[in-house]
Amino acid sequence: MASFLWTLCLSALFLASGVISAPPKRPIDVPFGRNYVPTWAFDHIKYFNGGSEIQLVLDKYTGTGFQSKGSYLFGHFSMHIKMVPGDSAGTVTAFYLSSQNSEHDEIDFEFLGNRTGQPYILQTNVYTGGKGDKEQRIYLWFDPTKEFHTYSVLWNMYQIVFLVDDVPIRVFKNSKDLGVRFPFNQPMKIYSSLWNADDWATRGGLEKTDWSKAPFIASYKGFHVDGCEVSVNAKFCETQGKRWWDQKAFQDLDAYQYRRLRWVRQKYTIYNYCNDRARFPTPSPECKRDRDI
Ligand SMILES: *[C@@H]1O[C@H](CO)[C@@H](O)[C@H](O)[C@H]1NC(C)=O
Repeated sequence: MASFLWTLCLSALFLASGVISAPPKRPIDVPFGRNYVPTWAFDHIKYFNGGSEIQLVLDKYTGTGFQSKGSYLFGHFSMHIKMVPGDSAGTVTAFYLSSQNSEHDEIDFEFLGNRTGQPYILQTNVYTGGKGDKEQRIYLWFDPTKEFHTYSVLWNMYQIVFLVDDVPIRVFKNSKDLGVRFPFNQPMKIYSSLWNADDWATRGGLEKTDWSKAPFIASYKGFHVDGCEVSVNAKFCETQGKRWWDQKAFQDLDAYQYRRLRWVRQKYTIYNYCNDRARFPTPSPECKRDRDI
């Protein structure tokens, strides 16, 4: 009897944790206009399937970009993107969160294009209080121009996780205890853009954009947003501490996720600011945690 009760108790626990251990399914057909607006060069954004898919167009006149209508404090932010195919050298496709003030916080994905058949670089960065300089760079384990892939950020009080198709590629833990600022009180909007950055993007600026190959096109879908939306006058998010991304299961990576992260470290990482002693003779304090991964 006791063991029966115990089993019952365990399975109740298991069920309770099962509810939150995986993010809910994200609807794929949300139209762009529900959560996003163009930021500039409105005529360089094209809409398909009632706005559930869009394309950003870069030509020699301009790039373009869009941003979320809402501002968010914490959440899970994802986008399905198919990068510029073919010769994309010199182009940068960015997906990021940023606050709007001067000492701003920012969480960045930047996809650096390349010549046909050469690999993209995915650069990530974190800014806190207006200070960045925390770049990491990886190659991807697939060709990001062939299909849509999911790029997402999990942001709560405990950690910021960068994910590619649900594989964690980077974790920025809240290291307040080590004296490192962590984004926690400045609401952020979600942004994406496609522009020409051939002064630095590809092989450090050696490879220039070939305008005879224009227009350059990146495709997007998945405009659903899972975040704590902050209203104009309320600085804090009412539901803080209650949403799925705040729950125990998302306060740290699990063992499997750490294994995936180490796999990315070992096989695909090409740059980590934590290991760049020429640039940072004394590494930033949070690098202590980075080394433990
Ligand atoms: C582009 O390809 C070259 C040669 O394979 C490689 O060294 C470089 O890291 C690639 N990516 C970028 C963005 O430069």
